[in-house]
Order: sequence, then structure tokens, then C-alpha cells
Amino acid sequence: MSFASKSAVLFKTFLSKTRQALILKRYESIWDHVELAPPDAIFGVTEGWKKDKNSKKVNVGVGAYRDDSGKPYILPSVRKAEEKIFNQKMNHAYVLQDGHHEFCKLAAELAFGKDSCVLQNNLNVTAQSVSGTGALRLGAAFLAKFFQGNKVIYFPKPTWGNHKNIFAAEGFEGKFYRYYDAETIGLNFRGMREDISKIPEKSVILFHAVAHNPTGIDPTMDEWKEITYICKKRKLLVFFDMAYQGFASGDTEKDAAAVRLFVDDGHEIILAQSFSKNMGLYGQRVGTVTILTSCEEEQEKVLSQMKAIILGMYMCPPIHGPRIVAEILGNPIPRSEWLKDLKGMADRIISARKALVDNLKKAGSTKNWDHITKQIGMFCYTGLTPDQVKKISKEHSIYLTADGRISVAGVGTKNVEYLAHAMHTVTK
Ligand SMILES: Cc1ncc(COP(=O)(O)O)c(C=O)c1O
Repeated sequence: MSFASKSAVLFKTFLSKTRQALILKRYESIWDHVELAPPDAIFGVTEGWKKDKNSKKVNVGVGAYRDDSGKPYILPSVRKAEEKIFNQKMNHAYVLQDGHHEFCKLAAELAFGKDSCVLQNNLNVTAQSVSGTGALRLGAAFLAKFFQGNKVIYFPKPTWGNHKNIFAAEGFEGKFYRYYDAETIGLNFRGMREDISKIPEKSVILFHAVAHNPTGIDPTMDEWKEITYICKKRKLLVFFDMAYQGFASGDTEKDAAAVRLFVDDGHEIILAQSFSKNMGLYGQRVGTVTILTSCEEEQEKVLSQMKAIILGMYMCPPIHGPRIVAEILGNPIPRSEWLKDLKGMADRIISARKALVDNLKKAGSTKNWDHITKQIGMFCYTGLTPDQVKKISKEHSIYLTADGRISVAGVGTKNVEYLAHAMHTVTK
């Protein structure tokens, strides 16, 4: 290479490096102050599990259903509905801001019951949402704009980790009422009742409609009756999060009992509904938000404002997921097939709970593990302390969240004995 071309190359390299340095400098100056967000607790659990080389490793941290062999499960009824939709060669046009109307109608009927007085009298505003999380966010956004009360929301302690983030993003302060009793590994109903009785009037309170996450502990119907009475007395706005309808008992009617009780009692509740778990539509992001109103005129205004909020957030929701749900809920045969699939998932979880307790006994544990079979839904609060969780992860390659919660969906015939043995070893 001649001296001239060597110099040209050097000069070019110099220019490109200077340019890069300038670009880097510019970026640094804009986002310099941004700090790393705290890692998601559940994501961290899965990361630890992925890195572990032990062939016996178990991940009971993830909140998604798995079949007995630990594989993600596609409901046969959902597969069939998808095939039918695909063969209909539908277009991909936009829907209105509040989404797929037939889906919203059917979803509201599933939650409140077809004959519910609020549906019969058009007192519900039900809009499609980006699953349960999006429903909570839309409800929070509506409250932030229109609720003439305290911008404070009361959650059960503990609650799903994302609740606080969602409401904080809409300017709500999150506070807690007592819920879990570590002594009994059950519900602290007395504490719950006491705390709710002291919540300032016109605040917002959130309940998990069924299968409380993370504890798997729900109030009994008699306890719910007391709670609805206290909430009414305190003039609390009740926000229900129903992420697991049908998933707890296998019966969608039974699992909606608390929501329906509050509605029959005259509460104008807000409801976040999700089809992630009960139809296994996690990634499709299908849900609804419902706001109950006291008259039809109010309904029209609330709907228009909800549409305005959605328009400003993401214009309109996606269309594929609600088509699947509408196909299933709107037709008797697909619906009964889905109910069968749903019952199958719920039953597998119930029998995995029993198998875990049986295997703990077989491993020699004399501790009382009854709470494992008493709790419902996907999650189980084992009662393992943070130190025991650390130990079981480090010494037995079993991964769960630090609060001792396991996803029972991660327990199957192949790993239950190993899991039980490890649980016994760290708790004896
Ligand atoms: C209690 C609760 N609410 C809401 C959600 C949100 O789920 P999605 O946004 O997938 O509907 C979850 C998911 O785990 C949950 O456990």
C-alpha cells in the first residue's frame, strides 16, 4: 500500500472514531442520570434456574400453567377455535377503542352471570383490555381522572408484585391491609377486618376475586359477606382483580362467587378480568375492564371516557385473542370443551398439591403441611422462610421466590418426590 493510501485509511479511521466518540458523548449526556431498574423477582428466579447445570433442577417460580411433564400447555379447545378462525380468513381491520363487542359481552356474562341484574339493566361498561394487567391499568387511569375520593389504594399484604407499580403509574399511593397470617399459614381474617374498618372513607380497596396470588388463600363466603358489609359502611370503592376464574375450582360460576356477592350487594365495583390462565392465552393478552354504573345515562358517559383513555394509550386493542374467546364462549360445544380443559388444569393442580403432601410424609416429614392442600389455585405459600428458600435453591437446585411461594403448576409426577425430599431436608 502506498504512503498516500495508508494515510487515507488512517485518516478515515480517525474520522470514524472521532464521530463515534462524539455520538457516544451525546448519548451519555442525555441519559446519564438513568439508573438500572430493580430486577423482577420472578425473572431472577428463572435466570438462576436456567444457569444451573444440575439435571434435577426444578423451577417452581413461574406463574404459568405447565402440563405434568413441565411443558407449556395449549388447551385443545383453544387450538380448535384458532383453527376455525384461521379457516374463516378474517381480515385484520382495526376494532373500536373498547374492542371486540361480542367478546366483551360474553366475558361480562362469564364474570357476572348471564342473568346478572347489572347486565340486564345495562349498568356495565366493559371494554377489552391488554389482559389483566392492562385492565388494572385502565381502571387505575379512569380512577385517577374521575374518582372523587382519596388517591390511595389498599392492597392485601402480600399481593401480586405488579399491583403497586400499576397504580403508582397513575398517581395512586399503595397501602396494605393485613391478609396473611404467617403463624397459621392461613388468612388473618381478624386483622383484615380490623384494618379495612379503619380505611378512610372513599378510598379504593383491591381484592383478588379468587385464588389469591401469592398465598393461594381466599376468604370463605361467610367472611366475604362480612367484608362486603364493612366496605359498604366505609364507602370504599371496590376493585376486583380476577385473574384466575375457573382455575381454582375448575368451576367458573363458583370462582366468581365473591364478585357476584359484591355486585348483588350494590357495590359499583371495577373488575379486571384476564383470560391468560383460564384459557392459556398468556401471550395473546386478552382481558376486560368493567366499571359498574348506577344508571344507563352514566354508563354512556363512562364508556365514552374509557374509550378516550384507550385512544390516548394505544388507540385500540388487538383482535386475534378476543376472537378465540368469543368463538369458545359463544358456542355451546366449544364452550363445554373449554370447561372440560379448564377442569383438567384445575384438577391436575389439586392432585399435584396432594402428591406433594404425600411425598413430604413419605420423605419422613412430621410437620403439618395441610395448608398445601387447603390453599387453592396455581400458587402455594409453603411457609418456607427466606433462609430455607436460599438453602433449597443452593443445595437442591429448586427455584422459587424468596417469600416461599411455589407455583404448583411446576410440580409433576417426575419431580414431586425430589421436591418433597428437598423441602423436608431444609425444614427439619
Ligand atoms: C393476581 C394477578 N392479577 C393480574 C395478573 C395479570 O395477568 P395478565 O396480565 O397476564 O392477565 C396476574 C398474573 O400473574 C396475577 O397473578
